[in-house]
Amino acid sequence: MSLSEPGVPASSGVDVVSAADDDDFVCSTSETLFVAIEKCLDNGLGTCLVVEGERLVGRVSLDDIARAVHHGALLNPGLDHFMANFADQRRNDISLEKDVLRPVVDDLGRLVGVTIDRSAQFVQIARPDMSHDEFRSVLDAFLSSWISSKGPYVEKFEDEFRSFVGAQHGVAVSNGTVALHLALVTLGIGPGHEVIVPDLTFAATINAVLYCGATPVIVDVDPKTWCMGLAEVKAACTPRTRAILPVHLYGRPAEIGPIVRFAKERGIFVVEDCAEAHGARYEKRPVGQFGDVGCFSFYANKIVTTGEGGMCLTSDPEVAKSLRVLRDHGITPSRSYWHERVGFNYRITNLQAAIGHSQLWRIDSILARNAAIARLYENAMTDIPGVRFPPKMDAKCTPVVWLACVQVPAEARNEILSRAQEAKLEMRPFFHSLSSLPPYEKYASDCPHSAHLAATGINLPTQRAVDEQVVGRVAEVFRAVLM
Ligand SMILES: Cc1ncc(COP(=O)(O)O)c(C=O)c1O
Repeated sequence: MSLSEPGVPASSGVDVVSAADDDDFVCSTSETLFVAIEKCLDNGLGTCLVVEGERLVGRVSLDDIARAVHHGALLNPGLDHFMANFADQRRNDISLEKDVLRPVVDDLGRLVGVTIDRSAQFVQIARPDMSHDEFRSVLDAFLSSWISSKGPYVEKFEDEFRSFVGAQHGVAVSNGTVALHLALVTLGIGPGHEVIVPDLTFAATINAVLYCGATPVIVDVDPKTWCMGLAEVKAACTPRTRAILPVHLYGRPAEIGPIVRFAKERGIFVVEDCAEAHGARYEKRPVGQFGDVGCFSFYANKIVTTGEGGMCLTSDPEVAKSLRVLRDHGITPSRSYWHERVGFNYRITNLQAAIGHSQLWRIDSILARNAAIARLYENAMTDIPGVRFPPKMDAKCTPVVWLACVQVPAEARNEILSRAQEAKLEMRPFFHSLSSLPPYEKYASDCPHSAHLAATGINLPTQRAVDEQVVGRVAEVFRAVLM
């Protein structure tokens, strides 16, 4: 298969893969279901064609296998047994028009190649990219019986992720929201304290402040970075300000160096919300390394996922100790059932950490793929009037692509989104500004940049299924409305 961008399959219409390259998409009945599962995961299609010798006999998919597992399909793992007992309805249906993966068969019924056609595929905005490696790790964790928060993968993942970001300590937790809450409680944030948050973010950022009984102070975002900047922070700072909570939105680093320097001078804490920015850098240093605590989410749509999950990073050993105690019911590690504080159960499981461990091995290729997808969108849509791509950032900032973003005229957005839905493409509007949401009315402030982004932004599908053909379909939706 030709690759026009590293990590992104080229596909102008139907992508033909010759028999010599088709190993990723084809299993033999002499192989096992486990081989089929791993190939279906690794090829990103969730399906493989099945041959007996050279003759095409059907197809197998992860959905079929999942349905058959409870009927004992794995007890006899031969693929021939599976095809005979669980997949027979598919036998006569092997060239289903609607399938993305289709066989090319010669007159003798021999498979001579495969084609990949995404012209009618439903493409979700994001989708976890799981390889055979995640599958093996999660099986390992499951079979070991360490399925709760004790077990080797938790510490392994903490250590690998903190070292990826370049922090001294990693404390893995159940999700990104509790990572933020845990960080704020650990730093002593509570009633009477003000915490500065940006107007444009996912609501978990402000919720974490409210959980502590502190007062959120909403500031506008900078139109170039889409994140809070030093100017906004300075203007909002009062003697009651105890913490600043910058969000690196959509993979774009906030002006974190200057914000942290300012906060240090004033004795204010900084908690970074890095949920959407794994691997982004400011002045060449990864985000999550700057603040007193850096918080990450590993929800299923994030760059690295554990299903649900999160992590607090810090380089302060006392903060790390306190994060660990509060994560685990406030119990002193060296004394059974001795609760030194009112803590939480914010632990992650070994099963989740096992997935994270394997995901992290592949983060560079996931980031390269997302960046390549964003470039494909930009190339395909630059000529469409009204479509704007994210502003280029200063040389100090190295953004990553979490979800590809565009802005369109506000009055055209709803039609674009509904046409996308008709075209079986999932696109989403940007977050609503916090100031416009009912629960935060009391804290609302005038944030014109955030309001404009919230009214004009669209996230585009950014996941493994996005190739040139899908980008072409997306561009067509925008063209139909805007040209
Ligand atoms: C900016 C931001 N902060 C916090 C979170 C919360 O993370 P989680 O869903 O893992 O609780 C998310 C996303 O989900 C997010 O996008």
